[in-house]
Amino acid sequence: MLRTLPALDHAAVDNDLYARACSIEGYFTEAEASLLMRAIQSAGHVPTYLEIGSFRGRSTMFALSAMPREGALVVVDAFVYGGHSPAELKVTLADPRVSIHKGTTVDNWTVLSSCRPDVVLIDADHSFAGVALDLALVIAVTPIDGLIATHDVSDRFPGVKLAVDALASRGVLVPVEGVDDLMIWAVRRRPRWLLDPSPEIDWDFPHDMSASVPTIVRLAVGDDAPTP
Ligand SMILES: C[S@@+](CC[C@H](N)C(=O)[O-])C[C@H]1O[C@@H](n2cnc3c(N)ncnc32)[C@H](O)[C@@H]1O
Repeated sequence: MLRTLPALDHAAVDNDLYARACSIEGYFTEAEASLLMRAIQSAGHVPTYLEIGSFRGRSTMFALSAMPREGALVVVDAFVYGGHSPAELKVTLADPRVSIHKGTTVDNWTVLSSCRPDVVLIDADHSFAGVALDLALVIAVTPIDGLIATHDVSDRFPGVKLAVDALASRGVLVPVEGVDDLMIWAVRRRPRWLLDPSPEIDWDFPHDMSASVPTIVRLAVGDDAPTP
């Protein structure tokens, strides 16, 4: 059955954080923010929100404005753009619900595989290779029916469009709702072929991925990666 998102519960939004989000330089429209906030509000009282690509924290602060007090917000960002840093982002967000992890999804596999996110935003490397890798790693740690938001699903970013369309065509992601360049998907299948190099394997990922390290992560990180 298709999941639908409830209307925004304005009474549950922190207006101060929302106003601060609006003043942060970034790429999220207010319509996109509203959709992301509805996704977070749909995830219950103790949601875990994972954001891949925060820049100066605009989308992150919108997410925080809709986040229940008991929720957790996990940021992964390689900080490859000029003029921003983990320290600045920490000061901007200044919220105990937030943890910031510098690096890529591959570098931060241990963080990802132990957080079991209810809602994820992917807004980092917009190349086909980059977003496909982020999607594969994120889907491996997101429960069935968890929500994945992808930003910049537009003709300006053919790599993003192609990657999400490919996963939708195989029934891995199903569309929930979109606005402007933000699309929300529900995870419907978690096939191991997303990350497992053995072609004969057609099982799904285990519920808990914290004990496994995908081959692509092990090879990229080298001997420092924990063995399953
Ligand atoms: C488009 S910006 C994110 C915008 C942000 N969501 C907002 O609302 O303003 C992309 C961010 O992803 C980071 N980034 C780029 N490539 C990355 C990668 N491979 N892994 C993690 N972060 C990456 C950049 O440092 C930048 O902060």
